[in-house]
Amino acid sequence: MSKILVTGGTGFIGSHTVVELQNEGFEVVIVDNLSNSNIDVLNGIEKITGIRPAFENIDCVDYVSMDRMFEKHKDIQAIIHFAANKAVGESVEKPLLYYRNNLVSLINLLQLMPIHKVKNFVFSSSCTVYGQPDILPVTEDAPIKLAMSPYGNTKQIGEEIIHDTIHSNPFYRSIILRYFNPIGAHASAEIGELPNGVPNNLLPFVTQTAIGLRKQLSVFGDDYNTPDGSCIRDYIHVVDLAKAHVLAVKRLLNEDANTNVETFNLGTGRGLSVLEIIETFEKVSGVKVNYKIVGRREGDIEKVWADPTYANEVLGWTANETVEETLRSAWVWEQNLAKRSKSE
Ligand code: WQD
Repeated sequence: MSKILVTGGTGFIGSHTVVELQNEGFEVVIVDNLSNSNIDVLNGIEKITGIRPAFENIDCVDYVSMDRMFEKHKDIQAIIHFAANKAVGESVEKPLLYYRNNLVSLINLLQLMPIHKVKNFVFSSSCTVYGQPDILPVTEDAPIKLAMSPYGNTKQIGEEIIHDTIHSNPFYRSIILRYFNPIGAHASAEIGELPNGVPNNLLPFVTQTAIGLRKQLSVFGDDYNTPDGSCIRDYIHVVDLAKAHVLAVKRLLNEDANTNVETFNLGTGRGLSVLEIIETFEKVSGVKVNYKIVGRREGDIEKVWADPTYANEVLGWTANETVEETLRSAWVWEQNLAKRSKSE
């Protein structure tokens, strides 16, 4: 059974990916410093798959601890690197936290890989690297534009570091996955999105408003050049996203990748506006969302959605879930969280 290291594996996308890896028979080791996630996520993973992954509470920025971790967990066949700070707004306020955490952790892993004979690397990137694309839907060969935030810049620089490292040493093989907007939760409602504090992202704010945790959702602008004036994004079910990571690992392990670095857009190919998301959520949940239109948020781009053809054809991956099912899963998860906090 191949052993996979998942950094950030107790996070939102990481935990869902661990479940799908275990469903496919992989052995998983999670490294996470729990700075933006909760150790209880391991219970959720175990409830779903019956397997509790090995867990190391380590900060990937800590080279020595990571070196010891590789000594302890021999025969890791591939790394999926999620561990990073990911809030666009926060990155503008705390750029050095983002540059240090997101880039030093990546450099540590790339330096340790040849030492510990680990050659396969899946990198968690983002559609943010495209900025506001000139052509939509956006393909992988679209120009990379000036990053709109330090967060987006760490993803751009991260991709360049991977390309340059692999160019210097063909030992490595890597797949870069550019996520669009991950939302939703596992059907079991045992794991889902668990933002610390006030959510930065749209969906958790919508579900927390619907359940009464938040008074009102602010919609950041309705004066964009879009049909209803609100921003458009490509919202993808987190389980669909997780399954793409399993296919990426299999591709690397089977040596199927046709070059040492491949990049894939992971999106549905469907753009939806903020107001459409709210409207669809209200239909699916039967709950009215209290929102008001406010000014634009700094750093927001107007509209982006993926052309997922390359991932469909080469990775053999397609986003299957409908937006209704995705929003329903997010709502069921929020309701489950509310039940749990009442019983605690
Ligand atoms: C979506 C839309 C907001 C909150 C970022 C990163 C991306 C990924 C997800 C990590 C925008 C609007 C939001 C709110 C709102 N990061 N909105 N009210 O900014 O598209 O993507 O987070 O995985 O890499 O770039 O996601 O959910 O913050 O915003 O109106 O309270 O919802 O203006 O149009 P974003 P988001």
